Parts: sequence; C-alpha cells; structure tokens
Amino acid sequence: MFRTRVVEILGNETSPGKVTVMGWVRTKRDSKAFSFLELNDGSCLANLQVVADAGIPGYEEGVMPARTGASVKVEGMIVPSQGQGQRWELQAVKVELLGAAEEDYPLQKKGHSMEFMRSIAHLRPRSNLFGAVFRVRSRMAYSIHRFFQERGFVYVHTPIITASDCEGAGEMFRVVTMDGEVVKTGEEEFFGKPTYLTVSGQLEGETFACALSDIYTFGPTFRAENSHTSRHASEFWMIEPEMAFCDLLADMDLAEAMIKFLVSDALEACAEDLGFFNQFVDKGLLERLKFVRDRSFERITYTEAVDLLKASGEKFEYPVEYGLNLQSEHERYLTEKHFRCPTTVYNYPKEIKPFYMRKNDDGKTVAAMDLLVPGIGEIVGGSQREERLEVLRANLAEHGLDESHYDWYVDLRRYGTVPHAGFGLGFERLLMFVTGVANIRDVIPFPRTPGAADF
Ligand code: 4AD
Ligand code: MG
Repeated sequence: MFRTRVVEILGNETSPGKVTVMGWVRTKRDSKAFSFLELNDGSCLANLQVVADAGIPGYEEGVMPARTGASVKVEGMIVPSQGQGQRWELQAVKVELLGAAEEDYPLQKKGHSMEFMRSIAHLRPRSNLFGAVFRVRSRMAYSIHRFFQERGFVYVHTPIITASDCEGAGEMFRVVTMDGEVVKTGEEEFFGKPTYLTVSGQLEGETFACALSDIYTFGPTFRAENSHTSRHASEFWMIEPEMAFCDLLADMDLAEAMIKFLVSDALEACAEDLGFFNQFVDKGLLERLKFVRDRSFERITYTEAVDLLKASGEKFEYPVEYGLNLQSEHERYLTEKHFRCPTTVYNYPKEIKPFYMRKNDDGKTVAAMDLLVPGIGEIVGGSQREERLEVLRANLAEHGLDESHYDWYVDLRRYGTVPHAGFGLGFERLLMFVTGVANIRDVIPFPRTPGAADF
C-alpha cells in the first residue's frame, strides 16, 4: 500500500500534490458541509489537518464513524493551509475507514499521567509524549552507531546468556530449563553449569578489543537489583566501548566526546520533539542541552569530590566519607549546584569498585571514572582495566571471587596483554537526559522493574 508519511508532507517546502495518507484520527469536528480531521501517523509530532467535504466518496462510511483512535486512509490534494501553525493541509477526495475505534478508546483526553499511560503500554506510543520519546530513542541508537562507526570502532555482539558475573555483585537473573514445574539443576543443567542473563558485555568486549583494538557493544543487559528508583530498570540497554592501547584519560575523553556528539545530534535531528519536551516536560531542557553541547565538562578525583562535599555545608541524607559510595544526592550536588555542568569523577577507592579495574600506584585507588550529569547523576561508568596478570589475580582473591570462573579472562593477560580501557553508557539514562523525562520507565517501550513485567 503506497502512502506518503505526514512528516514528508509537513516538513516539505513545496506541495507534493496528490497523496495517499494513512494514520489515526486524533480529533474530528463535523459541520454540515464538511469535517475536519486531525491525522497522526507517528512519523512526526504534528498532525496533518484533513478537510473532507460532505459528499466525497466514503464520507458517510469513512468519515462519519471515524472516532478518535480510528485508523483511516485518505486520498487527496495537499494545498496551502488556511489555518495557522502549519503550511499544508489535505483536501480529501476519498476517505476509507480502515479500523473503527471503540467508544472507550483510552486516549480520548489530553494530559493523562505517566502512571496511567504505563497501564496502557500497548497504546501509549500513540500519544504525543511517547511518540516523541520513542522517535528520539530510535535516533539516538542510530547516532550511537554512527559515532563509533565513524571512529573506526567494530560492533561486537556479546552474549546475553553468560556464566560470569562481570560486576561481581551477584545481581543476576538465573537462566534455567524446566522439567514440568521442576527446575533442572546440577548434571541436568542445560549448559552443564549455572548461567545467567548478562549484567554487562565488558569482559567479552575486552577480549575483542585485545584483538581488534577498538570495539563497542550495544545490547540489552539485566540486573536483578531490588532498587525502586526512577533511574533503575531490571532490563536496560548498554553501550560499552573498549579500547586497546588506551588509558583512563583517553577513556574519559571518549565518554565526553560521545555525550557531546549525541546531545548535538539530538538538538539538530530531533528539534520538533525536543521542543515539545521543553514545553511540556522540562522547561530548562533546551538551555541545558545547548550548554552541554557548547561548554567543556569538569573533572575531579573522588578524593577531591569527597572533600568538596564535606566542605559544602549542604545537608545530605547519606553520609559523605572517604571509602563510601557517592549517592545520587551527592552526584547531583556536584553537577547541579557546585559545577553546574557534567562532571567526571575518577580514581575511586579500590574497595568500592569491581575486581577488573586497574590499581593505581598509590595502592589505594583504582583507575575508575563515572561521568555525572545534572538531573540524573551517573550516566557513564568506566575504567582502565587491570592488564597485569598477577595484580588481576590478587584483585580477584581480594574480592572473594573464584578465579576458575574467570580463567579465560585471566588468560588474556598471559598472551600479549596491553593497557586497555572502556566504559558503559546506560542508554535509558542518556534518553532521560536528552528528553528531560524523569522516570526511566517512561523511556522504555515495555519497562521491566521489580514486581512489574506487564505486556
Ligand atoms: O556502572 P556500571 O555498572 O558499569 C558496568 O557495567 C561496566 N561493566 C561498564 C564498562 O566499563 N564497560 O553500568 C554502566 C552504566 C551506568 O553508568 C548506568 O548509566 C547504567 O549503565 N546502568 C543502569 N541503567 C538502568 N538501570 C540500571 N539498573 C542500571 N545499572 C547501570
Ligand atoms: Mg557504575
């Protein structure tokens, strides 16, 4: 079925003339002589205004019963719009009702809450807000590939089912097969040993970086952490570049360049949708994104950050002490009140970071970095990796991890080991940042969080 997308019409300088358009009716107003239909096909935020004169073919069967939510096919001429706000409108010559909508279509009214929209996840992409969110999500996925491909990085598909816990935090979903209601274990286990859904593709990514030099992964990751926050999902997507012959400094440079690239691309390619977010979701969004695009970021060590937070005089819910993790409120203080810009904190105490991070010469800290952004906190977490065989083995032991589970990872240090570094960008955190949407659930098509896996 040939059709012209609404975006191709409304974004065009010259009228495309005769077209066939298909979409869903947002609103309809009938008068004696004609009807006005606002048609949306999801290709852009704006609706196409359709004028259907009474008496055209299909008017009685196509236009009259087309309620909000119904789908229609309209053939007609694109003509200059009489009304304000848009260049073109469609003068219908023929209308066909494709699918009627029942009277209780849940998106009749404007301004539903995000919570209500989550309860109708199968219809929420039809709304202005979620249509915009998921167009931006698609564009950002494309831009991420573009960013890495243009820099010569190789895209690697790391496995979703894995036997190793990358972060060593034990927050994994187990993969099992069943015999009726009975879970198969031990000898019966499908893969011959316990397996899990991956929490990160990093360890596998490192092996490919230590062969192809610059790689990235982009795929789903899973965490069984029982965090009920607006920033944690049980299933989310992560982008993990890994670079051989690379240290922490170059790693931080890449993370900053990537954030700037993506923000800049969103401002350009998603201008209409971002304008909508700026008006209805977060009034400071565009100003903040332009600032991030144009200005340089800050960098401080963890130790400096702790001193700065202690001296701030700010009342925090969680304590600030060397050796403790920075909480979201601390991260947000740094980026929103102190520096007022994205900030990378690096060189964390080794005790609060995973086994794979490279030990610094001070013996106390590791070459870790977290990139924090206003409104969210951590958006990127990364490090230089421990490439020295004996130090890595000692790290595993210090973290109470069984070396035999990581033998292939340790082996990488036996044969031509090289300094290497990488990071993970949480895709949904990036989307929250770019759209101003405050809850991670609302940038995920079908969110999975503790206690919730609907649709
Ligand atoms: O800081 P994390 O745990 O780092 C890693 O997984 C490393 N293996 C990455 C690497 O060095 N290759 O996670 C990386 C990022 C976080 O900064 C955050 O943006 C996101 O992933 N993230 C989550 N996003 C949504 N829901 C969750 N539960 C998340 N946990 C982490
Ligand atoms: Mg982290």
